[in-house]
Amino acid sequence: MDKLLVEGGNVLNGTIPISGAKNASLPILAATILTDEECRIKNVPDLKDVSTMIKILNALGRDARREGDTIIVSAGQIKNHIAPYELVSTMRASIVVLGPLLGRFGEAEVSFPGGCVIGPRPIDLHLKGLRALGVEIEVKSGYILANGKNLKGRKIYLGGHFGSSVLATDNVLMAAVFAEGETIIENSASEPEVEDLARFLIAMGADIKGAGTSTLKVRGVKSLRGTEYSVIPDRIEAGTYMIGALITNGRLYLEHARAEHNLALIDKLREAGGVIDEVDGGLEVYRAGDVINPIDITTLTYPGFPTDLQAQMMSLAAISNGISVITEKIYPDRFIHISELNRMGADIVIEGATAIVKGTNKLSGAPVMASDLRASAALVLAGLVASGQTEIARVYHLDRGYEKLEEKLSAVGAKIWRMKEIK
Ligand code: EPZ
Repeated sequence: MDKLLVEGGNVLNGTIPISGAKNASLPILAATILTDEECRIKNVPDLKDVSTMIKILNALGRDARREGDTIIVSAGQIKNHIAPYELVSTMRASIVVLGPLLGRFGEAEVSFPGGCVIGPRPIDLHLKGLRALGVEIEVKSGYILANGKNLKGRKIYLGGHFGSSVLATDNVLMAAVFAEGETIIENSASEPEVEDLARFLIAMGADIKGAGTSTLKVRGVKSLRGTEYSVIPDRIEAGTYMIGALITNGRLYLEHARAEHNLALIDKLREAGGVIDEVDGGLEVYRAGDVINPIDITTLTYPGFPTDLQAQMMSLAAISNGISVITEKIYPDRFIHISELNRMGADIVIEGATAIVKGTNKLSGAPVMASDLRASAALVLAGLVASGQTEIARVYHLDRGYEKLEEKLSAVGAKIWRMKEIK
């Protein structure tokens, strides 16, 4: 397995182009199942998770291929309705083919997605919403067997123990586009990526009101057409590099980054002592003064502080000049990065779903282990500011969600390189 080496103490200065959003690309690619016509999806990042979704579309019988930053899903018939274990087990977001398969064909067989290191990943809300539309669901030998022809629109409340659900909203939305009558999804997820999916479906001819809000209203239509669409920029990638500018006391211009997608993060970074300015359709980010102030964060569903930036913010808090409190309300176990940060000299203790972070200016490089996509990013950020060298193992986690990470960071002054595992 490849490793990343990071030489600490270098300041990040310059411009980073922000890629298309992974978490918008995945459901939008799944939504192409809803038409036999050609779709051209632009600004799609070249990531492992995107390649997995392309493989799933090809396994279903569609011809999906990449041309530069565009994925072309050629016209053609879906040949089968099975999303196989060997693909779904590598990416739990594959569950998002369930809704479009049911909406279009009334049947689907999708491997039950496993949990992952950030915690159990239940799908009760997905199944509740689909059953409300009239889908019969059985779980057998690790597969979800779903059947539901002639779905009927209903009012569905989709809030769960942790609030709204991004992929459950996506699945129910896509199952509802052809359902008879009106479907109202209450307490739907309002993340920009869910809004982007809704806008893509509208571009295909779906009748959807309330995109980007917590109530979606869908009127069933007869069919959807192929279309061309460009995916929004990745707000989590942008947020990660915003933190990179502050943690190294540098100055970065993030091309295409949109302030309105990261209001909670920007609010906290300003509190920490950052300056974030909107300039020419991107964001300029740097420190106002020399120190990083401690922060108090609770992760919530959008527009609250995103759980996908919690680990990265913890790396920044680790070098602040005070005590920070970070509470994880979406995935209470999402603290695997803490033990690795403490190996680098951070002083973090866990109290249930809350981490208490005592800032220090003495992070030191160490061999550490990546455990999930965003925890890996947190370790890279810590390595940028630690004294000496940090060696990050299991870097495949990063490759799932950050396009050209080493190239983008090296171009702005980081000393970072990949050590290929000799097979
Ligand atoms: C999406 O996952 C993202 N993934 C995750 O990003 C992100 O962390 C998460 O939303 C929350 O923002 C993609 O979009 C591909 P949820 P999703 O359903 O939809 C609970 C990354 O790093 N829940 O919104 O699977 C769940 O356990 C990834 O890019 C239920 O209880 O997340 C969690 O506690 C990691 N029942 C909370 O809701 C359900 O049926 C939010 O999960 C579904 C979820």
